[in-house]
Amino acid sequence: MYMSIVYLNGEYLPLDQAKISVLDRGFLFADGVYEVIPAYGGRLLRMQEHMQRLQNSLDAIRLENPLSNEQWLEITEKLLADNPNTGPGEDKYVYLQVTRGVAAKRNHGFPDEVNQTVFMMVSEMVPVDKEELRSGVAAITLDDIRWKACNVKSISLLGNILLRQQAHDNEAAEAILINDGLVTEGAASNVFAVINGMLVTAPTGSRLLPGITRDLIIELAAENGVAYEERDFTEEELLSASEIWFSSSTKEIMPVVLLNGKPVANGQSGPIWEKMIDIYQAYKVKLRSGESS
Ligand SMILES: Cc1ncc(COP(=O)(O)O)c(C=O)c1O
Repeated sequence: MYMSIVYLNGEYLPLDQAKISVLDRGFLFADGVYEVIPAYGGRLLRMQEHMQRLQNSLDAIRLENPLSNEQWLEITEKLLADNPNTGPGEDKYVYLQVTRGVAAKRNHGFPDEVNQTVFMMVSEMVPVDKEELRSGVAAITLDDIRWKACNVKSISLLGNILLRQQAHDNEAAEAILINDGLVTEGAASNVFAVINGMLVTAPTGSRLLPGITRDLIIELAAENGVAYEERDFTEEELLSASEIWFSSSTKEIMPVVLLNGKPVANGQSGPIWEKMIDIYQAYKVKLRSGESS
């Protein structure tokens, strides 16, 4: 069986040989942060932005970055090279995780001496097919039960997991989270809506993760004359939207065609999504050929 090569604390190992202590604070407390970086045809999507978000997450949990950006890049590129393509798609994503490491005793306060645990792996990413995307998915709105630092890409994902599962239990692909009447994001995605003809997404802040895909969509919208607003919007406005999308590194831009069991507009993906997905896919073609980052 094909065994992928992963990185753990300075070593490159087959996946089944990578082991950590049960006293690792990531295991005991979910005391750590992570990143997911797509690589299209071996080219990393927005590596600098991912490194900046990682630094922001580490700063927020008061954990020193164990590696320089050059070292992160070196390990990422070696892992991509050590895990040759196994399928027809050349797309992969790199997962990286940093925890506050192993302490001698289980104690909530930080240990005196910290040796971060660094784990990285590469997974195959199934290429997103526009025709498949076009049929869209169902979503439900749920109360955002998470904590007040959703801008941190924390490995503590219990709230997100429970919300996503609740969506699945209701035959929906994703949950759209509502905090104090306002739309924040999805359980593992950002949310866009077309309200009165205008593309809208919630502003960044502690209520949501600043998605790399979200930022890229905004940048591409600006470059291509698609009017958009970053502003708070209510659940009521969402229910009246003519288009709703999720965005994430692995799912790209996914239209929502059914919300809380009712069709979104005519129950089909809309014209602004159609335009944005073409722009996004064209960006990926350029990235693969080395023309953009
Ligand atoms: C809670 C949450 N919001 C937003 C996103 C989208 O972020 P990105 O576009 O960087 O994948 C994710 C990605 O997994 C997420 O988990």
